[in-house]
Amino acid sequence: MTPINRMDEPVCPASVKDATLADPEVLECPYPTYSLLREQAPVWQDPRTGIYVITRYEDLKRACLDTERFSNLRPSNDHAKLTGNARKAYELFLEKGWVPAPSLAARDDPEHKQMRSIFDNAFRPKRINELDDEVRDLAYRLVSEFIDDGHCNFVKQLAVPLPLIIICRQMGAREEDIWQIKAWTDAWFRGTGFGLSEEDVLWCTEMEIQAQHYFQKIFERLREEPDGTLLSDLVNTEVPGWGRTLNDNELHAEMMQDTFVGGSETTTNALSAGIMLLARNPRVWERLKSDPDRYLKTFCEEVVRLESPVQGLTRTALVDIELHGVTIPKGATIDVRFAAGNRDPERFERPDEIDLERRNAAGHLGFSSGTHYCLGAPLARRELYWGFKAFIDSVEDFRLAPGKNDLRHYPNYALRALNELHIEFTAKK
Ligand code: HEM
Repeated sequence: MTPINRMDEPVCPASVKDATLADPEVLECPYPTYSLLREQAPVWQDPRTGIYVITRYEDLKRACLDTERFSNLRPSNDHAKLTGNARKAYELFLEKGWVPAPSLAARDDPEHKQMRSIFDNAFRPKRINELDDEVRDLAYRLVSEFIDDGHCNFVKQLAVPLPLIIICRQMGAREEDIWQIKAWTDAWFRGTGFGLSEEDVLWCTEMEIQAQHYFQKIFERLREEPDGTLLSDLVNTEVPGWGRTLNDNELHAEMMQDTFVGGSETTTNALSAGIMLLARNPRVWERLKSDPDRYLKTFCEEVVRLESPVQGLTRTALVDIELHGVTIPKGATIDVRFAAGNRDPERFERPDEIDLERRNAAGHLGFSSGTHYCLGAPLARRELYWGFKAFIDSVEDFRLAPGKNDLRHYPNYALRALNELHIEFTAKK
């Protein structure tokens, strides 16, 4: 078991008084801040955002299960109350596209449960198993496309296309359009970043509207001619209790937020994080490749635990909530910081290390817990498995390409995304 090297100089607040999470430099390596908060202020109100941040594993698990007090509804669901840039974006959607409805992840039961049932059916285990050969073949094909070069940009050549092509095929999009779709999802992702100007917000909205017009044609085709894809099921299945299928606004929200960004970007980031961790921990790499059948599944879980592509998401307090002597007032925004819980020493021994034999590795919160548990986790696990397996089977040894990597992450409060990852390698004979 090898300690993970962190960024060269992570920000380590001297005390809780100095802590903040609303700072791109802190988010570059948030782990020392998480550790301080877990120990000294497990429920902490960030003075810069007013958000209450929960960081201990057990508290997070309880919060995710307690939907009576912790709601997934977002203030932005209420269009009448939108102001500033959010209102301008809303008006642009009204004028040129479709105002996205609350996504599955932004609803509470019973509506959430009713909607989730059609997703559960579309993503049923048998369907995901049937995709397995396709995921495997694509992973080996992508590796074969760069293996003779002796170097690659892992993000661009494997981590992005693997999950994106799989989801494109299942969402009725053409494989040759993946870079256009990636530009749209990047814009969406950028729209959730820090300190955006009005111009930025409107540009991101315009990009999302372009994507909507592309997807709208697919919805219309699948309504006329259903096929065997996941999207065909989502478009054509009546939501129990609603007496209708999903409308265009609901489908558009799912395409962007829950499927292409929530499903593809996250898996991309886990794949890149995994290779970065292996590059920095050569002993783990040696051990992993010595017996992938034994270690690879645990490695996939450890990557999601340690580098949590979804660092945290929000809940809204439905009542005043007392926790560790802090009163979270009704209506407050709460950040369930999965990534902090994933390194909680009360739950995981030597939490900052990759342990290829960790018994409770899959018990992490990287896919959340409870009613909103990640719908795509079974698919993501297969994509991680085959992405890493194809790499291990083809590469003898590798290292970070000197002078080409800054190993920085895109500044974002909720998602953790490595910008690029250039590696050099020796192929297996
Ligand atoms: C490593 C990859 C992934 C990670 C780390 C991840 C993480 C998460 C997390 C943390 C949530 C919980 C939301 C909450 O508690 O509010 C979630 C929900 C969700 N994920 Fe994933 N996800 C991944 C891959 C995928 C994939 C491949 C798909 C689909 C193609 C997907 C679709 C969804 C959907 C639809 C939800 C909403 C579920 C609900 O609210 O009922 N995810 N994901």
